[in-house]
Amino acid sequence: MNGNQNHTVINVEVVKKLSSRLTREQLNPSLKEYVEKYGIKEYHGEANEINILCSNVDSITFHDDTNMGGKISVCNGTVDHQYHIFTIEDSGPELQELDEKEDQVPAAIHWQLPSSEFHGLWETLIYDTNVKVELLNFVQTTMLFSDRGVNSNIISWNRVVLLHGPPGTGKTSLCKALAQKMAIRLSHRYLNSQLVEINSHSLFSKWFSESGKLVMKMFARIQELVEDPDCLVIVLIDEVESLARARQSAGSSNEPSDSVRVVNALLTQIDQIKRFPNVLILSTSNISGTIDLAFVDRADIKQFIGLPTPRAIYAIYYSCLQELLRTGILKTIGSLKAIQDLEAISFDEIADSVETPTMQLWSLSKLSQGLSGRTLRKIPFLACSVFTHCIDTTNNTLSMYLDAMKQTIQKQFDDRSVMPQ
Ligand SMILES: Nc1ncnc2c1ncn2[C@@H]1O[C@H](COP(=O)(O)OP(=O)(O)OP(=O)(O)O)[C@@H](O)[C@H]1O
Ligand SMILES: [Mg+2]
Repeated sequence: MNGNQNHTVINVEVVKKLSSRLTREQLNPSLKEYVEKYGIKEYHGEANEINILCSNVDSITFHDDTNMGGKISVCNGTVDHQYHIFTIEDSGPELQELDEKEDQVPAAIHWQLPSSEFHGLWETLIYDTNVKVELLNFVQTTMLFSDRGVNSNIISWNRVVLLHGPPGTGKTSLCKALAQKMAIRLSHRYLNSQLVEINSHSLFSKWFSESGKLVMKMFARIQELVEDPDCLVIVLIDEVESLARARQSAGSSNEPSDSVRVVNALLTQIDQIKRFPNVLILSTSNISGTIDLAFVDRADIKQFIGLPTPRAIYAIYYSCLQELLRTGILKTIGSLKAIQDLEAISFDEIADSVETPTMQLWSLSKLSQGLSGRTLRKIPFLACSVFTHCIDTTNNTLSMYLDAMKQTIQKQFDDRSVMPQ
């Protein structure tokens, strides 16, 4: 992580070609040569003088965890490069069905990590707090404690993280992105990494008339993975509030219902696997539901993920505009400043200046306060339908597009006010 202004840790993520047979040690000298020659310039397969790279590496990217987006643009002072060399699986997820007779939602989904599906996801998630750094630090600390053999009866730590907050704030995406990041950052110590997503909703719809035994069956597979010390296993329990709901609904009848047995079995199984050093359990919950206290108690980190601040909104919109520029829908974004450049000048200065696109986007970001990340990422698309007659015309200016965005944002709030609460 970034210690202070004069010392920066740059994580260099190197995607090795699936066909490459070179080991980490064999690739390292060429990577160092690349960094000496090109600094922090990203590589995506273009021809260069280092032949070994061209034939063995798909991409090289540079990351500073303390940045809002994650990617790095400039760095000063002393720099420590940490190289992470890995291949990307593109085999897609494997569904774990336990009940052959029904065709409902699968009980669990297994991904081999790092997966092409989650590649780059971490960098697209933008928070105005240190949540991403804190999550990475938490993982590092759990690894340190296991490595040093800290006695867990004296200092207790679980391997459970709970992210909670309003809908659409990126909780599920953040868990998946963290799993991917861990698989990348720990690629030197684990031969294999897996993400297992348990859909807690499906447990009840599927096994309502069965017992918690099926949960055991589901965990038997996870247990097998965990027992291999070379395999990193990340378990994701999404929308954990359905556990609490199951208990509440059972409370209204006299008999301990089947769904309570399912919840209890799930908690017991979590307790079993979290003892292993190569496991992390990530969970999410929507504040619209109550969270099961027995579960909350197991979490080391209970992190609230709130709605984006104007700074974060600006960075999200900026990334959307870059994408519209890349795909030719916008012809230019002119001198639009990135949030890092905006920080350098004071915000008051922007307010005093004439109406520049930067200022326009900043006021749109303030106007959008209260919208979730999910809605924000839709606005540039919806705005395009207002702007559609300008695409491929001389009227294609950033300023006109930003006007279209403004109309779209206002419409979001208008639509909301007439929705039943
Ligand atoms: N802070 C953010 N930065 C960038 N994108 C975001 C952010 N928050 C949400 N998004 C976008 O919103 C989409 C939805 O996020 P996700 O499904 O992870 O939210 P969630 O918090 O799990 O929602 P829910 O509570 O409804 O399950 C993501 O694909 C992501 O692109
Ligand atoms: Mg979610």
